[in-house]
Amino acid sequence: MGISLGIGLTNACDLNCAHCYRPQGAVKHLDLADVERCLAAFDVGSVNLGTGENILNPALPDVLDELHERGIKTSLTSNGKSLLELDSDRLLRLHDVEVSVDFPDRPSMDAFRGDGAMARATEAVRRCAGLGLHVTVLAVMMRTNWDRLADVAHLAKSMGASFRVNVFQPVHDTDLMPSWDQFWDGFRLLFERTSLVTCTEPVVLAALGMQRDGGCGCGRKSVRLTPAGDVLPCVYWPTPATTLAALEPGSQAAVFESPEFVACRSVPEPCQDCELVATCGGGCPARRRLVGGLNEPDPYCPLKGDKPVLLRAELGPDLELLHASNVCTTIVEAV
Ligand SMILES: C[S@@+](CC[C@H](N)C(=O)[O-])C[C@H]1O[C@@H](n2cnc3c(N)ncnc32)[C@H](O)[C@@H]1O
Ligand code: SF4
Ligand code: SF4
Repeated sequence: MGISLGIGLTNACDLNCAHCYRPQGAVKHLDLADVERCLAAFDVGSVNLGTGENILNPALPDVLDELHERGIKTSLTSNGKSLLELDSDRLLRLHDVEVSVDFPDRPSMDAFRGDGAMARATEAVRRCAGLGLHVTVLAVMMRTNWDRLADVAHLAKSMGASFRVNVFQPVHDTDLMPSWDQFWDGFRLLFERTSLVTCTEPVVLAALGMQRDGGCGCGRKSVRLTPAGDVLPCVYWPTPATTLAALEPGSQAAVFESPEFVACRSVPEPCQDCELVATCGGGCPARRRLVGGLNEPDPYCPLKGDKPVLLRAELGPDLELLHASNVCTTIVEAV
């Protein structure tokens, strides 16, 4: 099975959300030749298109045609804009699509993302679902919505969409980062009203007592290409392993052995003897680095509190959604 490749075709966006990890500053676009160069370097099993709002890069239709021609399963993440503006033939070539909705009601969502954001997102969900595409609503758990995620899951279900949650990553600053208590209360509240489909968030897996092969897929099975042409082991990793210009056909092995990828697979010193390390691997390496301690346990380590975290989840049906393999995420279904 090939790697999952996340491509940031552009950092341009029509919105300016406070939590957004996309690189600020000058707009950068990748073109079709850039994507082809990257595809030649790696054995690619699937692609996700994220980072900015993809339709703002004029190369998007050609890139989608090329990925389709090569039979590469592709998903696209959007605030709604790209999914409303793409023609339906191209939309139907996607394996699945994701629409970002962080709050369950229009006033909160529009206050966070801008006027009209909720209407556009829900219209995009309905358009894509109406075309028969698999749609996932995607929320980011933040300091401001950690206790409302089950409501977003129910909204997603009412529109015929799946639902997944990523935890906010402090790429630019920590203002919206949930506290340790909010993180664990957030998952507890979410699992009370949903069943678990897939989880690749290492600390959550560890707290659930579920088995997985030591840590997340970042630096092992996934690669990220940014709009500036940087190659990263994870979308939130702050320093590039190499650049698009340096990639050659068959560069994959060298990239996975580069110092940045090796660092991304590292297990922190204090975690080496932990009873949960086989599942957790020390938690999310990007999060550890972003809060200043790659060699420290994940800031959400379940053993960090006064009492052990008690988390239970009902197991739901397994679904093959592309993004589950290239970012730490939790997919649930409202019940
Ligand atoms: C960067 S956006 C690009 C696609 C599109 N513009 C959108 O909003 O869905 C991709 C996803 O990353 C999420 N995201 C942005 N900044 C994040 C951060 N700092 N931590 C975690 N997720 C983040 C967004 O909410 C969105 O769900
Ligand atoms: S819509 Fe997406 S890319 Fe644009 S600012 Fe918001 S999260 Fe970032
Ligand atoms: S000590 Fe390390 S390996 Fe153990 S649960 Fe905490 S972060 Fe995970």
